[in-house]
Amino acid sequence: MREKSLKKGALLYKLKKHRCQEDGKNVGIILRKALMCDVKPLYNLFYEYSNAGDMLPRSMSDIYEHLRDFYIAENSGDIIGACALTIVWESLAEIRSLAVKRSHTGKLIGTELIKKCIDEAKFFKVTNIFALTYKPQFFQKSGFTVVDKSELPHKIWSDCINCVKFPDCDETAVMLKL
Ligand SMILES: CC(C)(COP(=O)(O)OP(=O)(O)OC[C@H]1O[C@@H](n2cnc3c(N)ncnc32)[C@H](O)[C@@H]1OP(=O)(O)O)[C@@H](O)C(=O)NCCC(=O)NCCS
Repeated sequence: MREKSLKKGALLYKLKKHRCQEDGKNVGIILRKALMCDVKPLYNLFYEYSNAGDMLPRSMSDIYEHLRDFYIAENSGDIIGACALTIVWESLAEIRSLAVKRSHTGKLIGTELIKKCIDEAKFFKVTNIFALTYKPQFFQKSGFTVVDKSELPHKIWSDCINCVKFPDCDETAVMLKL
């Protein structure tokens, strides 16, 4: 099982290109930072899942403002997954908006996107990463542990004021200490 996971991971890292695919050539799955041309596909990806109640929605302007936070999984020009790392406070960052297209789930793409965010957090000397999620078991597979929301600093709740669920947050807090 572990060997299978490693093979899939190696496949994901085979090609890393910081550009949008314009020629439609089949280059397999790549992980890269988000670009301007990704905003609309990202909006559509999040819209579908937020309508199904799997994640919180994100407005187009919110995606533009946080574009530099996002990693993208791309398959031959199609956006098939995304995940954002947002720095929120000293030594603390949040993983937000993790989504993988239904047609591509179960291929470790979500796991690889999380790894990218963890690597970026380490680069910035972040020591704690948290997420508010409806899928705590998924995050636990990547080493996160469930924590009480009261353990999170007050600062993070200021961002929640714009959330459609505020003040009745029904997500679970998970944390990874680096
Ligand atoms: C949750 C999601 C990101 C998983 O992406 P994925 O690429 O299919 O996940 P992976 O293939 O990397 O799965 C890794 C492991 O997590 C498990 N897993 C996947 N989805 C899970 C879920 N919803 N609950 C619990 N475990 C899950 C897999 O079974 C796999 O375990 P294994 O290695 O023992 O087989 C994807 O299903 C999705 O986008 N869902 C809708 C949006 C969402 O729920 N986002 C989460 C943040 S709220």
